[in-house]
Amino acid sequence: MQHFLNITDHSPETIRGVLVRALALRAERRATGQNAPVLAGRALAMLFEKPSLRTRVSFEQAMNHLGGHAVVLGRDEVGLGKRESVADVARVLGGMVEGIAARVFSHAHLETLAAHAGVPVVNMLSEVSHPAQALADALTLADVAAGGPEAAEADPVGALDAVAGLKVVFVGDGNNVARSLMRVCGVLGAHFALACPEGYALDDAGVVVSHDAVAAVADADVLYADTFVSMGEEDQKDAKIKAFGDFVIDQKLLGAAPGRAVVLHCLPAYRGVEITDAVMDGAQSRVFAQAHNRLHAQKGLLAELMAPA
Ligand code: CP
Ligand code: NVA
Repeated sequence: MQHFLNITDHSPETIRGVLVRALALRAERRATGQNAPVLAGRALAMLFEKPSLRTRVSFEQAMNHLGGHAVVLGRDEVGLGKRESVADVARVLGGMVEGIAARVFSHAHLETLAAHAGVPVVNMLSEVSHPAQALADALTLADVAAGGPEAAEADPVGALDAVAGLKVVFVGDGNNVARSLMRVCGVLGAHFALACPEGYALDDAGVVVSHDAVAAVADADVLYADTFVSMGEEDQKDAKIKAFGDFVIDQKLLGAAPGRAVVLHCLPAYRGVEITDAVMDGAQSRVFAQAHNRLHAQKGLLAELMAPA
């Protein structure tokens, strides 16, 4: 694995390898309170063009737990492509750190960084995809399929195999998070469907789309939400919130799903908009365990990408 820009850049075996390593690192931390310092002396530069809570803290803590460290650079500090060309930023950082992670408005900037850095480049969210989120989502699906986190850690391969029996329904916008979730479901053999208003589907080939949320969740094991208005789309806020009125995950929609169904959300959640408080805080919600899996997923990814051979 040279870079990590999209789930589909890699073979299913490679993605599964990252997930198995993540579960092993999670188990190691749970059992011993620490991880072996496999990234000792290594640094990750993290470039942010947009705000972040989970991604920033999970990557930074992953580096810390594995014995390395992170250098976090905000939008105004670097001016990616404005103060300095993206290629020059890559060339400079590539001589100083062992990895670069970036959250960008333009996915093309990630490709330029990867072409010129000479060190691994990681997508921390672009307008196209959010593959690091999808790794954590896959761990959460494995936890659900295995019957709990300890069971998944006891048999990571079996837990990942069991994800193939799940039906995941993303209720909302066909966006970056939906695309990466669909792709990781494809890797693991899980059934994926998108429930969205007309005009908001993913344009990827093969995606199963429903414009009827109630019908779509009828046999779902997992309901998944994201904001209706992604970062950079603030000018579409009113139109999108209106268009998505029938795609809110509330108790009525959850009631149309089987009782076994769990609810996920990549967060941040706009409570009362795409998901209600009662669902977020209800017994079927797994959203905070899912957020915590960001840390473990990022460890698996960074260990595979950045540890010395
Ligand atoms: N889910 C996610 O990427 O959260 P942040 O935007 O807070 O990093
Ligand atoms: N789709 C959202 C995800 C945030 C983690 C966005 O791009 O803003």
